[in-house]
Amino acid sequence: MSGIYIHIPFCRQRCHYCDFYSTTQIKRKPELILALLSELEQRKDWIGEETIRTIYFGGGTPSLLSIDEINQILDSIYLNYNVVENPEITFEANPDDLTEKQLRLLSETRINRLSIGIQSFFNDDLQLMNRRHDREQAINSVKMAQEFGFKNISVDLIFGLPNLSIERWNENLKIVESLNVQHLSAYHLTYEKGTVFEIKRKKGEITPIMEEASIMQFKTLIAWAKQNNFIQYEISNFGKESFFSQHNSNYWNQKKYLGIGPSAHSYNIDTRLWNPSNLSMYINGIMKKQAVYEKEILSESDKYNELLITALRTKRGLNLAQVEAQFGNRVKHHLLHNSQKFVESKKLYLKDNALVLSDEGVFVSDAIMAELMLVEEEID
Ligand SMILES: C[S@@+](CC[C@H](N)C(=O)[O-])C[C@H]1O[C@@H](n2cnc3c(N)ncnc32)[C@H](O)[C@@H]1O
Ligand code: SF4
Repeated sequence: MSGIYIHIPFCRQRCHYCDFYSTTQIKRKPELILALLSELEQRKDWIGEETIRTIYFGGGTPSLLSIDEINQILDSIYLNYNVVENPEITFEANPDDLTEKQLRLLSETRINRLSIGIQSFFNDDLQLMNRRHDREQAINSVKMAQEFGFKNISVDLIFGLPNLSIERWNENLKIVESLNVQHLSAYHLTYEKGTVFEIKRKKGEITPIMEEASIMQFKTLIAWAKQNNFIQYEISNFGKESFFSQHNSNYWNQKKYLGIGPSAHSYNIDTRLWNPSNLSMYINGIMKKQAVYEKEILSESDKYNELLITALRTKRGLNLAQVEAQFGNRVKHHLLHNSQKFVESKKLYLKDNALVLSDEGVFVSDAIMAELMLVEEEID
């Protein structure tokens, strides 16, 4: 079973924290749609005979698409690929695009999961981030989506913002609770290279919050999730039972996927491909039926590191039998040896023959993963 990701590389305005590939040249949308439809036809072989279980419209801002454009893309997927009977079809949307009319139309498409980028319910935080919506639009978008029958809704929040107090973070979580959604993605703010936030931080115009405050917000999030029956199935993702994102779980479970659109990645265990993060290069290449992607054949250590960082992010953890079956006994022992100090310091624990991050370990997951990664010579 595989997934298809469609990248919609347009935003009305750029948020000050975000470095995902997108442009504000929305007038080029008709050209992009033609290129997406063409790429869907050209790349059929990547999936082969496998069935498609998940489809994900991500961005950028998919909610800038018209209903007709969404249906053209979905029709092309159904025509060219073998889609399972009840696929998960996720659509990322910004609250300001989710008007009553648009939600009614969206509810008539095959889309069955909405991922709404709320980030915060505080207007001054939203302004700081350069978001286009306010608190009221955020709340109403979720309520209206529910009224139009969406039963699988995820919201995105960002914590660790400059000056975000624990009271405000609690209030954000309380509102999510009251909205009765099925899923929450909560990310700690990262200062990405080239973003307004990073530039302001360098100039001293923004002061990142203290590490203790970050940890406190993360702990609050984990405790809140437990109290409210949200299962933390991945470091930043919390779902009610049977509402985990199947599409993202497939990434973490190393399933094959096809990425369509500028900057989209594709993966099939042995190879990783990525399309250019440039609208003109993408459209021109695809319309000339050229392979626009760059390609990387994964070495054994790449594959091992990929498994390590994806599996350790999940609640299931890194299965030792899988490591042994795929990479041999020597690599498994190397892993057990190197992870021992983290087990002793209770940052990792063993459960059902898998190494799993503890709540403490989650706070320092990047450092743990970096230490456990293998370099080429250690595996060959
Ligand atoms: C690529 S965005 C697309 C969603 C949609 N365009 C929106 O803005 O609502 C996906 C999510 O990544 C998160 N995100 C992006 N950049 C981030 C950063 N630097 N730090 C933390 N979270 C970030 C935000 O929560 C955002 O909703
Ligand atoms: S967060 Fe969403 S709307 Fe904002 S710049 Fe990134 S992709 Fe665009």
